[in-house]
Amino acid sequence: MFFASDNTGPALPEVMQAINEANQGYVLGYGNDDLTREVTQSIRDIFQAPDALVYLVSTGTSANALALSCLAQPYQTVFCAPMAHIQEDECGAPEFYSGAKLSLVGSDDKIAANELDAEIQKCLERGFQGVKPGALSISQVTEFGQVYTLDEIGTLTEVAKAHNLPVHLDGARFANAMVALGCTPAEMSWKAGIDAVSFGGTKNGCLGVEAVILFDPDKAVEFEARRKRGGHLQSKHRYLAAQMKAYLANDLWLNTAQNANENAAYLLAQLAKIGVKFDYPPEANVLFCQLPKQIHAKLQDAGASYYTYDESHETITARLVCDWSIPRPSIEQFIEICRSA
Ligand SMILES: Cc1ncc(COP(=O)(O)O)c(C=O)c1O
Repeated sequence: MFFASDNTGPALPEVMQAINEANQGYVLGYGNDDLTREVTQSIRDIFQAPDALVYLVSTGTSANALALSCLAQPYQTVFCAPMAHIQEDECGAPEFYSGAKLSLVGSDDKIAANELDAEIQKCLERGFQGVKPGALSISQVTEFGQVYTLDEIGTLTEVAKAHNLPVHLDGARFANAMVALGCTPAEMSWKAGIDAVSFGGTKNGCLGVEAVILFDPDKAVEFEARRKRGGHLQSKHRYLAAQMKAYLANDLWLNTAQNANENAAYLLAQLAKIGVKFDYPPEANVLFCQLPKQIHAKLQDAGASYYTYDESHETITARLVCDWSIPRPSIEQFIEICRSA
């Protein structure tokens, strides 16, 4: 019963097989190989963005930090939600790589357009002593499992564009959000005003690969230099490319995301039936709910794994994440324990 995160499960067999298949003979390193050329072209095709720059890295943190370092200067600030992964869970990597500060917008999981506008205005009013507006970063899926609608993304990017700010999308769970919205990659990115995407692979079944997609082709020299200087240019690059190629082939990435979302929806529906309350409308594969303490105790005794927050109330805030691989019997077992408790 592993609901701790979508990085607790195994990698997809197709991904492992692709790594094995790539493990033949000799090819040049540092991305100078056919597999890398092929997969970066596939991503351009999938995003209907023939001029986009596509780079592979091995962690989501490096994808975010490097993408943001190309969007914001050291004297600027990146606007983000208070619980954004770049703020809470990356040990300051975005600030370290970009030199820019992070400014938190509002107090909720999703950023509201009026709050963003107000925060940018406040920043501008600080005059020469304050940092300058640099970029906006949003997470899709959000940290609390919500999905911005295309309209919401469009409204936020409009506010950002009105101030000439580029927009980054942390898509560690890009596929889960896309499947939830039933839209295309282009619609959830450049068509909605996004300038840079961290396109996740690891959480949805890869061993460890993410793509950074920059829709401004003039950023090539900068990104490549920053990636190398930051120590994130993988030398045996073919193994990153092999994973991403298998992930994208035959809609595997969409099917795994669909499966994860459906499992989460099932878990939600069954827990809701026995009265468990959810903090946010869960829309993809991440659920936050209030577990009564006796249920939590039974789940712990049975070895269920999930993160908890704020244990000071009658109920415990639990984060339940369904990854692509979670077996239905595990979900049934989890539900049964909750029901009987
Ligand atoms: C929203 C979000 N962004 C980025 C990441 C990337 O993390 P990592 O550097 O662990 O691959 C995560 C992982 O938890 C995440 O949830």
